[in-house]
Amino acid sequence: MSGTERAPAAGDNHHLSHTRGDSVSSLNAASSTSTTRPFEMRDFVTVDTIGEGSYSSVREVFLANKPTERYALKIMDKSHIVREGKARYVATERALLAGRLADCDCVAALRFTFQDTYSLYLGMELCTGGDLYSQLKRSEGEVMTEEKAVFYVSEVTRAVQQCHARGIVHRDVKPENVLIDSTGHVKLCDFGSALDLQPVMTSVLTAIAEQAVKKDAKHKKNRCASFVGTAEYVAPEILEGCAETTTAVDLWSIGVMTFQLLTGRVPFKDKTEYLTMQAVLKGKYVYPPEANVSSAAKDFIDKLLVREPKKRLGFEDETSIRSHPFFASVSDWSTLRARKAPSVLTATGVGSDATVSESESESDTDDDEEWRARVNAATAALDAL
Ligand SMILES: Nc1ncnc2c1ncn2[C@@H]1O[C@H](COP(=O)(O)OP(=O)(O)OP(=O)(O)O)[C@@H](O)[C@H]1O
Ligand SMILES: [Mg+2]
Repeated sequence: MSGTERAPAAGDNHHLSHTRGDSVSSLNAASSTSTTRPFEMRDFVTVDTIGEGSYSSVREVFLANKPTERYALKIMDKSHIVREGKARYVATERALLAGRLADCDCVAALRFTFQDTYSLYLGMELCTGGDLYSQLKRSEGEVMTEEKAVFYVSEVTRAVQQCHARGIVHRDVKPENVLIDSTGHVKLCDFGSALDLQPVMTSVLTAIAEQAVKKDAKHKKNRCASFVGTAEYVAPEILEGCAETTTAVDLWSIGVMTFQLLTGRVPFKDKTEYLTMQAVLKGKYVYPPEANVSSAAKDFIDKLLVREPKKRLGFEDETSIRSHPFFASVSDWSTLRARKAPSVLTATGVGSDATVSESESESDTDDDEEWRARVNAATAALDAL
């Protein structure tokens, strides 16, 4: 990643050179493509931390002179990336977001990138509705109505199909990586595990990609120990490590996610990650007795949680999944994002005292006031420094 470019405008994609190799010095080595001063962390005011990962955190930020333009800033720790050998994943995420995914209306857009000695920064479009996992947790009984689930799963399916059409397998489809934008519609995020089926070997990424291909071939048999993705959502063929990774792995994850939205729990789960992976390999799942899941939904899930990747619904052609009875209420797939979105559930208050309220996705006055108060608090905190 280079220094950066300046002045991101809504809708603009600012493309930068990025990581060059698997070392901190090489992460720093990329050249600048801009003549203006690079962004620095101190140019931004942090409103809140909105996500925490193993080697990254995501903050809601704004540029001090433009408080109304909000971004989600993903901050990744360089030393951790290098120690864990994740540089090529970071490089892939940035390259895909700035490249083939830049025109996807259901992927959270990358606006700008920059770096400093310790961290890499991805500035993204802020999805104000948070992630789908939070929506599920805030739902009554931590379960979604089938109507709501159909809405979200149809948009996730379309997002995943957009990725597949571009030769990209997401490999970590799960509610935490499904964001809700300000209109209540879905945007996919977190391409840190993505597999590029048609890698374009740009000069910056050639070395990393070539190394990765060699390493993958060498360590294919050890994939179970170092699989990409999340145990509860990972397809069995990834754990077995012998099959080629195909777009079918995302279809499996959509099946897991649908089960989870409708029942409040994932179909494969045990005390440890290892035991969870064993449960995935066994492939047996039962619906909680109290779950109210229609036969169409069960059939949809059953056809996705199929052991043989090529037999999963939607693998051969995208229309087979779209025309499943689970999606009977979806009349026109080309205008999904024009539908009225479900209300977004917002948490008000902080920590364990948080209470839950339901508000229409068209933000109302209360939201504006809360918003202003948070901005004022953040600005005051900055002034006090
Ligand atoms: N653009 C965004 N708008 C709003 N919230 C976001 C955005 N991007 C990320 N988040 C929040 O931050 C969380 C973590 O982001 P992300 O999934 O990209 O990172 P991660 O899971 O830590 O990444 P990795 O898997 O690479 O470690 C998301 O689950 C979501 O809650
Ligand atoms: Mg994530």
